[in-house]
Amino acid sequence: MKVFQRKKDISKYLQKLKSEGNSLGFVPTMGALHAGHLSLVKESLKDNDHSVVSIFVNPTQFDNPDDLKKYPRTYKEDLDALKSLDPEIIVYYPDAEDIYDGKIVSERFDFGGLEHEMEGKHRQGHFDGVGTIVKKLFEIIKPTRAYFGEKDFQQLQIIKKLVAQLQISIEIIPVSIHREKDGLAMSSRNMRLTEKYRTAAPFIYKTLLKTKEMWNKNSIEEIKTFVKKSFEEHPLLELEYFEIADEKNLKPTIEKINGNKYRGFIVVYAGDIRLIDNIAYY
Ligand code: PAF
Repeated sequence: MKVFQRKKDISKYLQKLKSEGNSLGFVPTMGALHAGHLSLVKESLKDNDHSVVSIFVNPTQFDNPDDLKKYPRTYKEDLDALKSLDPEIIVYYPDAEDIYDGKIVSERFDFGGLEHEMEGKHRQGHFDGVGTIVKKLFEIIKPTRAYFGEKDFQQLQIIKKLVAQLQISIEIIPVSIHREKDGLAMSSRNMRLTEKYRTAAPFIYKTLLKTKEMWNKNSIEEIKTFVKKSFEEHPLLELEYFEIADEKNLKPTIEKINGNKYRGFIVVYAGDIRLIDNIAYY
C-alpha cells in the first residue's frame, strides 16, 4: 500500500497517473475510519481507476481545543481497514507543517451565506477551516471526483460552492448517511461515547424519523416544538439545535414552499460529545 506524507511526493506520483489518462477518486478524512468512510471509499473505487484517501485531523476547523485534542486517532487501524478494502488505495497522511507550510491559519471564505447558517453559527470559523484544508487537498490531489458524506450536509453544500467559486473541474459526489443497526449516524466521535450515552444516542434518529412522519400533517412550528420538548424530557441528551432548512440555501424556514426540498438538521450533546444528523423530507 502506498502511503505519502509529503505533498511534493504525492503530487508528483498522482500527476504521472493522471497524465497516463487515469481517473482519480478522492476521499478526504480525519481518520478514525468507520463503515461510513469505507462506503465513500467503495464508491470511489467503483467509479475511478485509482483512489486516494487522506487522513489528517485538521486543526483549523476545530473551534474547541479540547475536541481537537480528544479527536480519535487510529492510524494503524485505518491503514488496515483501507488495505483490506483494496491494497491499491493510495493514502495521503501529511502533518500540519507540510500541508500548511508552517502557517497553521485559515483563509477567509465567502460561501454566499451558506457558512453563516446552523454549524456556522455554533462553530466559529469552522467552515473557513474546512474550506482551507479542502482547497489545499484539492490543489495537491487534483482529483477527478471527490466524495463527501451527507451526514455533514452543510459541509457538502459548501464544498460544492467552493468548487464552483474556484472554477475547478472536480465532480463532487454525495454519499448517503451510513447508520448503525439502531439508526445512529456513523461518526468517528461515536467511539468516544460511554455505554450509557451510546445506548441513548439512537433517540436522535428516532426523533428525526418522527419529524418525517409529521412533515405532511404538521406545521414547521409544531415539528420544532415537538423536537424541543422531546429533548427537554430526555434525561441524558441535550439539544443544541434543530432546524428545518431549504436544501439549497440552508436558510431555516418557517413555511413550506411547494417544489422546494427541505431537511431537518439536528445537533445533540451526549455528555461532552457533539453528535450531528439530518433527514430529508422527500
Ligand atoms: O468531514 C471531514 O472529515 C472533514 O471536515 C474533512 C472534509 C476531511 C476536512 O478536514
